[in-house]
Amino acid sequence: MLKGKHIILGISGGIAAYKSVYLLRLLIKAGAEVQVVITPSGKEFITPVTLSALSGKPVISEFFTANTGEWHSHVDLGLWADAMIIAPATASTIAKMANGVADNMLITTYLSAKAHVFVAPAMDLDMFAHPTTQRNIDMLRSYGNHIIEPTSGELASHLVGKGRMAEPESIVAQLEDFFKKGEDLKDKHVLITAGPTYEKIDPVRFIGNYSTGKMGYALAEEVANRGAKVTLVSGPVSIKAKHPSISVISIESAREMHDQCIRQFPLSDIAIMCAAVADYAPENTATKKIKREKDEIPVIKLVKNPDIAASLGQIKTESQKLIGFALETNNEIVNAQDKLKRKNLDAIVLNSLQDKGAGFGTDTNKISIFFANGNRQDFPLKAKTEVAKDIIDAILK
Ligand code: PMT
Repeated sequence: MLKGKHIILGISGGIAAYKSVYLLRLLIKAGAEVQVVITPSGKEFITPVTLSALSGKPVISEFFTANTGEWHSHVDLGLWADAMIIAPATASTIAKMANGVADNMLITTYLSAKAHVFVAPAMDLDMFAHPTTQRNIDMLRSYGNHIIEPTSGELASHLVGKGRMAEPESIVAQLEDFFKKGEDLKDKHVLITAGPTYEKIDPVRFIGNYSTGKMGYALAEEVANRGAKVTLVSGPVSIKAKHPSISVISIESAREMHDQCIRQFPLSDIAIMCAAVADYAPENTATKKIKREKDEIPVIKLVKNPDIAASLGQIKTESQKLIGFALETNNEIVNAQDKLKRKNLDAIVLNSLQDKGAGFGTDTNKISIFFANGNRQDFPLKAKTEVAKDIIDAILK
């Protein structure tokens, strides 16, 4: 999977830098072309001579070569790379990455990189567990960086705990897995709905819900990362899709979402209905703001919205897969299984507001997936980006 791939190996100043030599050897052996970028303190731990001998390229550390004045373009490097690995990533480098402190070549290259970035933290256990480091790692994760978790064991300080950089074999395996997954949905078209719908009462009020779009957008990014073209029909949210293969169609009401989905579904291989769609809308939208009357309490008559998932379920062909979500507060399993059947879905992802950290608004979710063939898969609480991976892995299986 790594043959011919352009990899930037970023090395920052930690004792685990000695492992990066082995990591570099493995990458070269796997056929990758590797450009090493090392921080000034990284050079205290491992010499550029060793690294350039192994990579067959001069190691980059400074913004320009002092004696020739040659400028090293971090922008060109960022465009050249298919992936960037930062191993070891010290607490300081992680903090700089999270906050854009571009005071060395590794950070400027990171900020310019268009490719996926893998970060392998390595530090003492207390530094790793510190809330500041954890917050910075969470920030990197939220930017779409892949965190290669450190392992537990004896550290350079002789203390025992979590902070050892992942072994080079494991880092290479994760990279290979990433490139392999990039082919999973090649040439497929995936339709995803996300966010809430707004059902207008008058020019200033609507019926809505708490959906932020985080789950649906995480699914869109994951599917795009695996090579698919994505049409994301999105209700009003404040987040943005990043991957160039995602086309966003912005809508407000359930009726608009329905019409777009009906149009897009025949062009799609898979549809994932993650939006929180209002089941009812006001029968009439007032053209002027409804005024507060002295004694009269206005009555808003509601009418049923179309059930988008069920409509797609009716027109689904043999080759198409339709996945729904179920957001429940009680009687979860029975309700989810009922929706699976009633809407003619191939699978339904259940999340319950009874589970802390699951459902609306949070960066995490806890799901179970029920399949039309009777199978069921349960997952622990995870970041929505990880939940998206689990859902796509499960569908592909
Ligand atoms: O956006 P976030 O803040 O990240 O929150 C994520 C989420 C909680 C919104 C998401 O994980 C989720 O559960 N989405 C589905 C919410 C929902 O409307 O569930 P439901 O049980 O009411 O609907 C069942 C299924 O039918 C869903 O796939 C829904 O998209 C679909 N539906 C519902 C009503 C309707 N009129 N048309 C539909 O297509």
